[in-house]
Amino acid sequence: MNTPGKKILDTFDIGDLKLKNRLAVAPMTRVSATEQGSASETMGRYYERFAKGGFGLVITEGIYTDQKFAQGYRFQPGITDAEQALAWRAITSRIHRHQGLIFAQLMHAGALSQGNRFLSETAGPSAIRPKGEQMKFYYGEGQYAVPRVMTDEDIADAIEGFGNAARLAVGSAGFDGVEIHGANGYLLDQFLTDYTNLRTDRWGASVRDRIALTLEVIKAVRAVVGGARVGVRISQGKVNDYAHKWAEGEAAAETIFGSLEDAGIQYIHVTEHKAWEPAFSESGPSLVSLARRYAPRVAIVANGGLDNPQHAEHVLNDGADIVALGKGALANPDYPNRLLMNQPMKEFDFSLLGPIANIKDSELA
Ligand SMILES: Cc1cc2nc3c(=O)[nH]c(=O)nc-3n(C[C@H](O)[C@H](O)[C@H](O)COP(=O)(O)O)c2cc1C
Repeated sequence: MNTPGKKILDTFDIGDLKLKNRLAVAPMTRVSATEQGSASETMGRYYERFAKGGFGLVITEGIYTDQKFAQGYRFQPGITDAEQALAWRAITSRIHRHQGLIFAQLMHAGALSQGNRFLSETAGPSAIRPKGEQMKFYYGEGQYAVPRVMTDEDIADAIEGFGNAARLAVGSAGFDGVEIHGANGYLLDQFLTDYTNLRTDRWGASVRDRIALTLEVIKAVRAVVGGARVGVRISQGKVNDYAHKWAEGEAAAETIFGSLEDAGIQYIHVTEHKAWEPAFSESGPSLVSLARRYAPRVAIVANGGLDNPQHAEHVLNDGADIVALGKGALANPDYPNRLLMNQPMKEFDFSLLGPIANIKDSELA
């Protein structure tokens, strides 16, 4: 029988990688690297708890990819040179000790950058001030800057940055694969979104043009690590616009998920506030169902409020292969082991992320 607990604890193969269960830790930025962007000992102790607690897969926080416009936050880790890659090695080996797998989330903040030690200007598809305000718990304050419009050269640099970061990630850093951050309002999502991308060149206008940068990044990353080690995260909502929906509705889903599958990746990571709910209106399919429908051959990772086993079961039935937990994993770094032993789960306490969202002593192994 397919009880929720049972299915989620089943093993799953993602390409040639063997996951011990279908539970992943969702990417979560914790601004606990050094000011120079090297992953720290604190981070190693924090990440190891998830592997020790039974998670089959850990997806890291968003890691910046170049020494130009990519960095989003002070104390965010990077993977742009040998030193930063080596610092990650200490973390990947801690995960492997527990037979866990770890993917690096590669992130370019674009116009949402609020702390970049390399350049003071921000860059994005069009000169539009991002909605909302900078995040205080990541050392930000006030409005976002109006980004500079990325030139062809800026775009080429960003693509090259993703490729270089991927090479370091699966090379000297020892990651099992990489997840390209195409979601939540950061650079690739800025290109995908109708109101932040007003370009009329090859990167703008139709959905197909707006997803083109993500596809080019996939191509560059695949060229260095192979498609089997690559996932992409996609969302409608953004850190600065939670309620956003794709203007083209299901037609956008068809183009986006179909073209991602054609690009030759291993998984699509779909995140929504409540992943089991209809994607566009009161009724209709969830985004997970649409990903499954339009990308039938890739693995689907689902995220968003799935620490409730009934909701997890729902998205597994909608076609998800892996369930990623964010806040549920912070509250229960041993969530899989608790599930296995039938132990109660703890509630997430938001005070953990204040006043700054850095890793707290209570989270260390
Ligand atoms: C503190 C914190 C940091 C986050 N940082 C990232 C990030 O770096 N990259 C990303 O893709 N999502 C990030 N997210 C979003 C989570 O991956 C996830 O989508 C969100 O928490 C919803 O899932 P949940 O309901 O399981 O918590 C972050 C969430 C939290 C709470």
